[in-house]
Amino acid sequence: MNIIKVKDNPEAGIVASKKIAEMIKNNPNIVLGLATGSTPITTNVKAFNLDEYKGIDGNHDQSYKFFMKETLFDHVNINKNNCHIPSGHTNNNEEAAKYDEEIKKAGGIDLQLLGLGVNGHVGFNEPGASFDSITSIVDLTESTIEVNSRFFENKKDVPTQAISMGLKTIANAKEILLIATGKNKAEAVKHLVNGPVTTE
Ligand code: GLP
Repeated sequence: MNIIKVKDNPEAGIVASKKIAEMIKNNPNIVLGLATGSTPITTNVKAFNLDEYKGIDGNHDQSYKFFMKETLFDHVNINKNNCHIPSGHTNNNEEAAKYDEEIKKAGGIDLQLLGLGVNGHVGFNEPGASFDSITSIVDLTESTIEVNSRFFENKKDVPTQAISMGLKTIANAKEILLIATGKNKAEAVKHLVNGPVTTE
């Protein structure tokens, strides 16, 4: 694990962007694993987003599909067929697992970008998720629903489930870049850096 300490969130953005840009320059056919975020990418690049809320349509303004279109895919010359996001209409885990197959077919993820939930979740893998998990339908914890409700008009509008890459899917990436900034992430980062390796 390579820990990069930065001053603040803007500096984290610069460091992360430089890393991604450097990897794209070195490999024009790179396969990126993306989180909801914004980074310039070019043709040939393939992208697999981490997760999506279950039960909301891609046109919903809080869907991660909508976020990716608005903040990145509509602004760069990436082939839209190369942009993968789990479907919010996924009905069961058999369907969800096909996402891992698509990633494998693309040659695996070269660089996976991750954020960090306040409770330590990555993607939508809440504390306690299995290290062996692949893409599946997951339940959101009350604390994640509470934290994410800031983006919705009403807390009751926040989906209670999501489709998320599993911890195994994520760990299979050749490199992982996790960005965490702000006081509300400090506790989770402390455990990540200093604590024992657990599913928490
Ligand atoms: C959501 C996403 C996570 C993300 C987390 C933190 O729950 N599913 O992938 O890491 O939010 O978001 P933020 O960076 O806004 O704190």
